[in-house]
Amino acid sequence: MDKFLVRGGNILEGEIEVSGSKNAALVAMPASLLFKGKIDFLNLPEIEDIKRMRELLSGIEAKGEIDLDIAKRFRASILTVGPALARFGKAVFPHPGGCVIGARPIDVFLEGWENMGAEIEAAGQTAHGTEVYNIKAPHGLRGCDHTLRVPSVTGTAGLIMTAVLARGTTVLRNAAMEPEIAYLEEFLNRNGAKITGAGTHTVIVEGREGELLIPKEPFIDPPDRIEAGSFAILGALAAKKLKIKNCNTHEISSLLSVLQNAGAYLETGTNYIVVGKSEHLNAVDVKTQVYPGFATDLQAPFMVLLTQAEGQGLIHETIFEGRLNHIEDLNRMGAKIALCDPHRAIVSGPSKLRGKVLESPDLRAGLAYVMAALVAEGESQIGNIYQIDRGYERIDTRLRSLGADIERI
Ligand code: EPZ
Repeated sequence: MDKFLVRGGNILEGEIEVSGSKNAALVAMPASLLFKGKIDFLNLPEIEDIKRMRELLSGIEAKGEIDLDIAKRFRASILTVGPALARFGKAVFPHPGGCVIGARPIDVFLEGWENMGAEIEAAGQTAHGTEVYNIKAPHGLRGCDHTLRVPSVTGTAGLIMTAVLARGTTVLRNAAMEPEIAYLEEFLNRNGAKITGAGTHTVIVEGREGELLIPKEPFIDPPDRIEAGSFAILGALAAKKLKIKNCNTHEISSLLSVLQNAGAYLETGTNYIVVGKSEHLNAVDVKTQVYPGFATDLQAPFMVLLTQAEGQGLIHETIFEGRLNHIEDLNRMGAKIALCDPHRAIVSGPSKLRGKVLESPDLRAGLAYVMAALVAEGESQIGNIYQIDRGYERIDTRLRSLGADIERI
């Protein structure tokens, strides 16, 4: 298994280009099942989750079924179920996995599909004990007025794609407002769908009664807002001056205002950011929220920044259960982080970090460990870097170009 070997202490400098968005691509690619013929996806990042999605979709197109072994490796596989159901009238799929926060509930999907007339039954378990579901729509799918229990991002996207081929209109209330939903709506509408409301809490889809979309306009993957945000935090942590190019700055405005409050050096244009560490970084409180609030995917990287800021900062993770697991390893490196309850932690800084042997629990905590190792004294080894490669393209090569002492072994 590959590992990253990191020696801390180098000051980073230079420019980095943001890759195509993992989550916008993962949400849009399954929509290829709604098309008659081939539709192109451009500017996709070469990361593991995109490779898995490609494998999964070519299997579905070839055999009409979802490969359970691939699907259970990443959460976003659940996004193929709605289009497969709408296209083929049935699907068998596993409870999606991926990382430690991956095996989360899928009730938002199941309730939505049932409201559209689908029948779902638990179909036993795979050899590895993964729960498998059997879903079918014997009388076709009908549009409905459905309220999501939580504004799930993939739940919203999955139900939109299911509704595109249903009979009649679907209203999705309490829909996620993340940019990935707006990119999906725009892509499908450019190819003949009739969807309105993406980016608001109510999305309306005119069903096409099974009539597939005709390919016209390719999907062009926008820049990854979470990668841009991750690099902005890295710049504030370890760079003299880091220019982050080709990013939609407005999509990470919550993060940028927090970095500003913390005293980082920040210069922003519409599609670039220049960020640098300042002499005096002060602790700030952060609460993760649905878009446009502070993104939960930036919480672990930001926690590393707080370990180097002066004073106490409260991190309140409101979106996920169990997304504070990285505290233990950061404390082993010398951080002073107290877990107050499963959703809240207080970081006291600044603290001197020392290199350690670490394992990436999920992709964002994995990147946070790389960042901590870059400012720690001595050498760190980071294992399970498949998790990091799931979401960050060639991260070691790109960090080395900024002067980081990191190698893949
Ligand atoms: C998307 O995941 C992203 N993944 C996640 O990014 C991101 O952390 C998350 O949105 C929140 O912004 C993709 O877009 C592929 P949710 P998603 O459903 O849609 C609960 C990364 O690092 N929930 O919005 O799976 C759930 O447990 C990944 O790139 C239910 O209870 O997240 C969580 O507490 C990690 N039932 C909350 O909603 C459901 O049926 C938000 O989850 C679905 C979700």
